Amino acid sequence: MMHDFNVTRNHVVFMDLPVCFNLDLLGSGFPFSFNRDAGARLGVMPRNGTNADVRWFEIDPCYVFHPVNAHEDGNMIVLHVSRQDEAFGTSNDDYAEVGRLWKWTIDLDTGTVTEAQIDDRPGDFGRVDDRMIGLDARYGYLMALAGEGNSEEPVYGSALWKYDLTTGTCTEHHLGDGVRGAEPVFAAASADSGEDEGWVISLTHDTSSDQSRLIIVDAQDFSAPPVATVHLPRRVPYGAHGSWVPDTAMV
Ligand SMILES: [Fe+2]
Repeated sequence: MMHDFNVTRNHVVFMDLPVCFNLDLLGSGFPFSFNRDAGARLGVMPRNGTNADVRWFEIDPCYVFHPVNAHEDGNMIVLHVSRQDEAFGTSNDDYAEVGRLWKWTIDLDTGTVTEAQIDDRPGDFGRVDDRMIGLDARYGYLMALAGEGNSEEPVYGSALWKYDLTTGTCTEHHLGDGVRGAEPVFAAASADSGEDEGWVISLTHDTSSDQSRLIIVDAQDFSAPPVATVHLPRRVPYGAHGSWVPDTAMV
């Protein structure tokens, strides 16, 4: 199962990770399971290439639902991903493993991948300024996850994180106790504004009042309270993913 893939200026990078289709599981309703013995590899293909052009690089078995971003640095390809040790390990609804921010560096000359954990706290649904996708983005925004061992669903956390991907440092926006977030989406202040000059938007759910809100956070004053909150008249179910589409007058 491939949930997502990466793009850089000249390449795409596919994540061939061992959540495998298993016909025997069809009767249980979810025909995927983690198979560590199947190994794991990253496939680098020129953006105008074909199957025959893919180069494969072995990595430790793991699973990634969501990359944050990827870029080229000379003969290296750098990927930031939310890496988890496995997925769907013991049952069809097993969310016991969750993602943490890792950095993979593919050396195209030596054919090796360096794997480095950036944070030991669970976080996923990473985004960058959309104008920096495939480029050397400095800032990545992740949603905290509430931790391991949740059997029925992945439990979203009560914070958003802004990482400086060049240093690994992290600034937190606390959503409030009992408030769960969603994917932090960046909206630029204008078409030519600086990389973190704009707002981070997220849909939150207050589990104590059952209220849903859309919050707008100043990306350059990330730990401060939201600059605006849209109080929604209905509870919005968890879905995590989101997008911002700028007004056409801006582009
Ligand atoms: Fe997803």
